[in-house]
Amino acid sequence: MNILIVGDIVGKSGVLKLQNCLKEIIPTEKIDFTIVNGENSANGKGIRLKEYEQILSYGADAITLGNHIYYRKEMASLYKTLDRLLLPANITNLEGNGCIVVEKNDIKYGVINIIGRACMGDIIEKNASNPFDKVDEEIEKLKKKNVDYIFVDFHAEATAEKIAMGYYLDGKVTGIFGTHTHVQTADEKILENGTAYITDVGMTGPINSIIGLKKEVGLNRFKTGKYFKYECSENESMFNAIIIKTDDNTKKAISIKRINL
Ligand SMILES: [Fe+2]
Ligand SMILES: [Fe+2]
Repeated sequence: MNILIVGDIVGKSGVLKLQNCLKEIIPTEKIDFTIVNGENSANGKGIRLKEYEQILSYGADAITLGNHIYYRKEMASLYKTLDRLLLPANITNLEGNGCIVVEKNDIKYGVINIIGRACMGDIIEKNASNPFDKVDEEIEKLKKKNVDYIFVDFHAEATAEKIAMGYYLDGKVTGIFGTHTHVQTADEKILENGTAYITDVGMTGPINSIIGLKKEVGLNRFKTGKYFKYECSENESMFNAIIIKTDDNTKKAISIKRINL
């Protein structure tokens, strides 16, 4: 199987880039299953029903989220009702799907979303339980549903926490990938027990921006140490993703390839 995983979609420009790239990549790379991180798709902050439907209509099979889950207040009661949307499983004060199963062409794909606790800000650090314990619980849930594959989006800031999670899940899942930093890392690998790993998939969002934020706003924030209101950049986007190829018999990962368009 060929699994496409796309890094955080940022704003309108990112959504448009996703549409154009999926149209091309899904057929040419013979993609069987696509996971997209949509946590910044609604003008840089969270996701609305509109983006949820758009992203699925472009060919995504599952949409993961991250720390922006509190921003779109109207979504709080909807998260759990959307069967292709995941919320980090270890978030304790919002209801949503921490893991989902998508059956496609007789294959059962399990997807888990989990969030880190190191350097993630007060709200997340206060409202997220231990991601290592929680991911084990979610894996057990998926195993009981007889899934063929499990993929984990670990939405986290700290490189070391993500690497630790990679080793923790080696052999337990087919792929574990990091999201959130919006910068693609060059450390993709197949771990010792057949799990594909990358610290961060990167961002599908505006190239000339500070991780999606308008350059001027980001620069002012850092230079003055003061708060300037978030403004999502509308510049042309890049596309950051990975493709994991799996062995259909062993269900382990054979290769992991980075895409940066
Ligand atoms: Fe994030
Ligand atoms: Fe993000």
